[in-house]
Amino acid sequence: MSISPRSTRYTKKKRKRSLNFSSSSSVRNELDPERMPKHVAIIMDGNGRWARKRLLNRINGHEKGAEAVRTVVRTARKLNIPVLTLYAFSTENWQRPQPEVSGLMLLLRRFLESEHKTLVENEIRLHAIGQIDRLPKAVRDKLNAVMNATADNTRMVLNLALSYGARTEIVDMVKRIAQSVQKGTLDPAAVTAETVAENLYTCGMPDPDLLIRTSGEMRISNFLLWQIAYSEIFFTPTLWPDFGEDEFVEILTAYQSRERRFGAIP
Ligand code: FPP
Repeated sequence: MSISPRSTRYTKKKRKRSLNFSSSSSVRNELDPERMPKHVAIIMDGNGRWARKRLLNRINGHEKGAEAVRTVVRTARKLNIPVLTLYAFSTENWQRPQPEVSGLMLLLRRFLESEHKTLVENEIRLHAIGQIDRLPKAVRDKLNAVMNATADNTRMVLNLALSYGARTEIVDMVKRIAQSVQKGTLDPAAVTAETVAENLYTCGMPDPDLLIRTSGEMRISNFLLWQIAYSEIFFTPTLWPDFGEDEFVEILTAYQSRERRFGAIP
């Protein structure tokens, strides 16, 4: 699979590039509100390379990446996307050098502190998936505080994948189903795809309609393996800190032009 030049990367027809996102009408002109994805999931990749290109340290790249997170959350909210899942820290990321892990945890705590009010005001519910008990207490406390404060919000779910790995999620799902069978509350013959979905961390959320990965890597990296069975996937060479509203809308526009068949004949 190759990535074609930037201006025609996602759509065949030429699009004007001068979108003004401070004006919600320009966004409405580009996109069909009826065909907005119900769930967008993003693998945010390339912070380290962004920093290296500027002779900065990796934490500077993650800091800039946190700014891109704010932009994308704001855009998703403006466009009425009901669920946005961001892969912020994987189970594998614990293997990074200790200063980088600590830096990311500090950044996460600061992000939660700085965005608490904005999430409340914009009626966004914060949710987290992953092995949350592995996070440092200070991060867990702030995470729980913001999740509690936003629990009744209904306009959008910001779902942070933290210490997340899809294989661990699937193992946990199997354990939960096995326990129900052992207790006698579930007949193995009655297990369906719905039973599986209900026992994943994403229980109650629609599967992602759209999955985006930045930085040119074409991998799934242990992210939402069950849930992305029929997701439309977009890879972009843009490094995460450079990902902004223009490109997000460009991808959403291309997503809306795709025919989704779910294995059937249209
Ligand atoms: C991958 O880039 C990115 C991460 C492992 C962390 C993502 C974190 C952020 C975007 C900032 C903090 C998040 C929140 C929610 C505040 P990489 O470091 O693997 O980049 P590289 O592949 O270029 O080295």
